[in-house]
Amino acid sequence: MNALVDTGDAAAAGGQGPNLGEAEFTFLREFVLQHCGISLGEHKRQLVQGRLLRRLRALSLPGFAAYCDLLRRDPESELGELASCISTNVTSFFREMHHYDMLVDELLPRWLAEKQGGRLRIWSAGCSTGEEPYAIAMVLAEALERTKANVDAKILATDLSPQALEAARKGVYAVDRLGGVSEERRKRWFQRGEGSFDGYARVHPRLRELVTIQPLNLLHEWPMQGRFDAIFCRNVVIYFDKPTKQRLFSRYAGMLDSRGYLFLGHSESMYGLSDDFDLIGRTVYRKRS
Ligand SMILES: C[S@@+](CC[C@H](N)C(=O)[O-])C[C@H]1O[C@@H](n2cnc3c(N)ncnc32)[C@H](O)[C@@H]1O
Repeated sequence: MNALVDTGDAAAAGGQGPNLGEAEFTFLREFVLQHCGISLGEHKRQLVQGRLLRRLRALSLPGFAAYCDLLRRDPESELGELASCISTNVTSFFREMHHYDMLVDELLPRWLAEKQGGRLRIWSAGCSTGEEPYAIAMVLAEALERTKANVDAKILATDLSPQALEAARKGVYAVDRLGGVSEERRKRWFQRGEGSFDGYARVHPRLRELVTIQPLNLLHEWPMQGRFDAIFCRNVVIYFDKPTKQRLFSRYAGMLDSRGYLFLGHSESMYGLSDDFDLIGRTVYRKRS
């Protein structure tokens, strides 16, 4: 998986459309680093050009200088679209299954027993199109049913990509995207579409009830109050530069309950970046008390 997956756009665009000049690429690299935490190497110029041509066309802009002007004038309004172009939203249900096993076997039974009458909060930070928070919601709903626990449990799902958030809110997925979901869970947690929705499935209203979806740039202010028991931030920080990761992990420590859990993606690590956590499992960290 790659934040800047070469989809062939740049090659396809070769020779067609405006060129991304040195000055505009330098501006874009600084802008993306400052606002998205993503550090773009010099060698990504062709790729960025290919990706952004779509945006230029959508906005009817004559070239990259005009696009940079737009970013200078109003950085916030275009940020989500820009980030969507340069990063990937690749995700799937029950990706990195060992994290869900840990939730089911260890964490949910303990939390639900300890928190009777209390709150349980999980944050899916960088939720993309919703598969991650809805998969967490499935195991959470099942644990709540099994234990009959009286716990106010909620999942917050955030991302900065407007398209990803729209898909997450819809909660409608092509059936061939449900590969990681067992047959039993497909039957329990999805409603199969009919007619023009044939081949699609909608997540069960119970899952939507458990998941709150909000736009949030992880590099900006966080409006949330109250602590989380676990944060899933998987396959998000991989292309952030070192200072951005350090700041983010320190802020996560501040948002977690004492001994709360942070789940990272399979190729991400906190090694040398934070003293606030102990590694307790495969890419699972627990906040130091
Ligand atoms: C590869 S997806 C990971 C989705 C899911 N967490 C998973 O592991 O399957 C990365 C997501 O992080 C989001 N993202 C990247 N930078 C972000 C930032 N600064 N703030 C919020 N979300 C960000 C992207 O929009 C994208 O949807």
